[in-house]
Amino acid sequence: MEDGDGFLFKFKGYYFYRKGIDIDFIENLDNFEIREDDVFIITYPKSGTVWLQQLLSLIYFEEHRRGTGKLQTVDQVPFFEYNFRQLDFGKRPSPRLFSTHLPYNLVPSGLKNKKGKIIYIYRNPKDVLCSYFHFGTNVILQVTSTFERFMEQFLEGRVIGSLWFDHIKGWYEHKSLFNIQFMMYEEINKDLRGSVLKICKFLGKELSEENIDAVMTKATFENMKYDPLANYDDIIKTAYGKNVKGHFLRKGTIGDWKNHMTVEQNERFDKIFQREMKDFPLKFIWDVN
Ligand code: A3P
Repeated sequence: MEDGDGFLFKFKGYYFYRKGIDIDFIENLDNFEIREDDVFIITYPKSGTVWLQQLLSLIYFEEHRRGTGKLQTVDQVPFFEYNFRQLDFGKRPSPRLFSTHLPYNLVPSGLKNKKGKIIYIYRNPKDVLCSYFHFGTNVILQVTSTFERFMEQFLEGRVIGSLWFDHIKGWYEHKSLFNIQFMMYEEINKDLRGSVLKICKFLGKELSEENIDAVMTKATFENMKYDPLANYDDIIKTAYGKNVKGHFLRKGTIGDWKNHMTVEQNERFDKIFQREMKDFPLKFIWDVN
């Protein structure tokens, strides 16, 4: 994932995946018209984006809950800045659901005026790093370096999504501008039902017990992994070819960093985390028991 080979595209200090963007769209993000009932999932990469796409799609679309729908989640909840299906967002019926990795300063100004709703998902950055390393190595096939070297890139923010610390701090410190709900990947992982109810409450959606159960069943890791409408396997094969050997739905666990990081790497990461996040008010409870 090197800048030098043209994989990354820097715009206003933020790194995009060059092949996935329309530069004209990126330059005009501010003017994109937001509707009151638009919903955006906002994540740093590898924090559970596809999971939330699935959850929102299930919450909003009955045919998806029933299993009669034919649309992939990426068509129900498309990526905003990586519109690789070339959808005409302006013609989409309301409520429109989107997912994005954008930092707070690049999103359309309508969102900054509290139009639309945002669910921001954050995850232990050590697990994000490990998930990202596998994704870069086995899916988008752009990481050819060691874990050690990729960790340096991640800590310098030379990856799609730029620096993890800047992303979460930017969003949290400007939260009063937005209609935003923060949620932790780990909390969703530990309490799926409670998380579905929390999301529904925030979005003003009332689902019956039976429908909540259907959402939960279809959003488990196991079910998503084997669900061709939700697991992205076809999409990544089409985009990256037959050499792809990884999956978006890789492990879906908490604390996989312990299988990757050496004691030294962990200590170095902790030091940087403490320096970057020392005045940050949000509590992080990563290793939820
Ligand atoms: P791992 O690589 O650690 O398995 P994103 O969608 O932002 O790229 O994030 C991908 C990560 O979210 C992957 O983490 C993936 O397994 C995890 N994920 C996706 N759906 C999940 C689910 N239903 N339950 C738990 N984790 C899930």
